[in-house]
Amino acid sequence: MTNVSSNWLSHLAIIMDGNGRWAQRRKKPRIFGHRKGVEAARRVVDACARRSIPYLTLYAFSRENWDRPQEEVRLLTDLLFNTLDSEAQMLHENGIRLRVIGDLTAFGARICTKIQSIESLTAQNSNLNLTVAVNYSGRWDITRAASQLINDCRTDSKLFENITEESLRSRLSTCGMPEPDLFIRTGGELRLSNFLLWELAYCELFFTDILWPEFNEACLEEALVAYSTRQRRFGGLSASQ
Ligand code: FPP
Repeated sequence: MTNVSSNWLSHLAIIMDGNGRWAQRRKKPRIFGHRKGVEAARRVVDACARRSIPYLTLYAFSRENWDRPQEEVRLLTDLLFNTLDSEAQMLHENGIRLRVIGDLTAFGARICTKIQSIESLTAQNSNLNLTVAVNYSGRWDITRAASQLINDCRTDSKLFENITEESLRSRLSTCGMPEPDLFIRTGGELRLSNFLLWELAYCELFFTDILWPEFNEACLEEALVAYSTRQRRFGGLSASQ
């Protein structure tokens, strides 16, 4: 129930861009911007929970982010996993379910176990479904799902004869979640950067120049108001046409 919107909003997806520039403008190291970015993420999670937005997905680390200097990658991934760990209890107490999508095997067994334990702790929560994408990309996920589908077809001839969009969709890491209704990207860039490529097919897009560390509830409100005025047609015609 997003009260500003006449369009139902069940899933909000965000690319949190601009941490590095925010820090550099203040002559600080980029990690300073990522730390401020964590505060902005906290604000948005809280605001979405209060507005009863059921699903929120945040792009925290893309597969392409490995191309950054090693030191930044190390500090950023440490920050992400330490934050998820330290916030786990708060998420649970607020009825928030946490899921992490992406290839976590790159971070080793200790991180995988830690994330699994937070996912199990919060699995029954239903106030807000928070998904954090780490070492994720849309193409990676579609390729992984296709490979799984091919494997499943080997032992299931009925599946092989009747491949539908749902056959692939149900093997994506976002399986069971509604497709995003609204996508927000901060930081002024106008692109999807390999985020939720399948899922964003009919999503409404909102871009803002605000750098992620400065994103606050008023910025969220602005995006929600813009969304409320969009005519969603999903390829069909609106009622008046
Ligand atoms: C982009 O800034 C932001 C990221 C790479 C994601 C990092 C996000 C956080 C640290 C927020 C924390 C989120 C959670 C869920 C704990 P950038 O470095 O690309 O900025 P730039 O475009 O200005 O260089």
